[in-house]
Amino acid sequence: MTELDKLLASCLSEIEKCDNLKKMDSIRSVIFGKNGRITQIMDRLRGLDKEGKRKLGAEINVVKNEITRQLDLKHSRLELKELNKKLGSEFVDVSAPARHRSFGRIHPLTKVSEEIANILSSFGFVCADGPDLENEYYNFTALNMPDHHPARTMHDTFYVNVPSSEKGRNLLRTHTSPIQIHAMLANTPPHRFFSIGRVYRSDSDATHTPMFTQVEGLVVEKNVGFAHLKWIITNFLKKFFAVKDLSIRLRPSFFPFTEPSAEVDVSYGIKDGEMVFGCGDKWLEICGCGVVHPNVLRHGNVDADKYQGLAFGFGVERLTSLKYGISDLREYFESDDRWRNTFGFQHVS
Ligand code: PHE
Repeated sequence: MTELDKLLASCLSEIEKCDNLKKMDSIRSVIFGKNGRITQIMDRLRGLDKEGKRKLGAEINVVKNEITRQLDLKHSRLELKELNKKLGSEFVDVSAPARHRSFGRIHPLTKVSEEIANILSSFGFVCADGPDLENEYYNFTALNMPDHHPARTMHDTFYVNVPSSEKGRNLLRTHTSPIQIHAMLANTPPHRFFSIGRVYRSDSDATHTPMFTQVEGLVVEKNVGFAHLKWIITNFLKKFFAVKDLSIRLRPSFFPFTEPSAEVDVSYGIKDGEMVFGCGDKWLEICGCGVVHPNVLRHGNVDADKYQGLAFGFGVERLTSLKYGISDLREYFESDDRWRNTFGFQHVS
């Protein structure tokens, strides 16, 4: 038996005896590593002549190949064995209930804001936006609310402690109406805008929260009047509550930025203990509206002798509560998962 035959036989028996993957790695390095058994024999090639090198080289290769083949074979057998052992010990109960995954819900205000935007867009209104942090000029002065107006008092309004400018003190907007001014200034008439946004007032009880959401509509066109306003509001409400018939009642009111002004009541009845719109003889206040005061048009760079303006404002929480039966206003902003799971909407993909 040559030295190479002996080497092969002893390597193969080592491999044969080996029973785990870790040991396989050390056997491999004992044979092929830097000072491994094959490596040592290969070193001898250096001292041989050409013919000797060729002969011994070929013999070493045969041995090397055989050892490698056996190592790989054993390696994959051991791998399979260990995998089977693992599968046997790890039990997967496919009948166990799946772990709960929360996908979140669409907040009712988001859902209703989208519904409102869709309806007003179908009437030809374009969405307009403005900042939550306003100044006295846009929030009051430009809207014909003079210095002595009660809404300007600290008691009602959140003034913000940042340096005031020539446009007055800074404050969180108390209504979305300043967007009327921004939108008019940024465009040329005729106008047909709506905006949906948060507004802030120093108020808090079951029916008032310091922050709430308003939707504002503005039309500036030639030859428009209260009849158009009535049509827009009635048809908006019909679409929103998905009813064929619905009556509104306009009650004279006052807003500094509209003249004449009105509060709008919508008709409803009670069926099986629930409010139903489009029938019945009861009335519920739902929005403020009016013909835009000429001073407001002028502040929006509109020729008040040629154009008339119509404006209306709804509370989005109010509309949402009426449509989806939510009673306490504060719950809209409490981020309670249980509330959202009850009143929130599922995503549709
Ligand atoms: N801005 C008014 C408010 O906050 C609502 C309103 C808007 C009234 C537009 C008339 C016209 O009370």
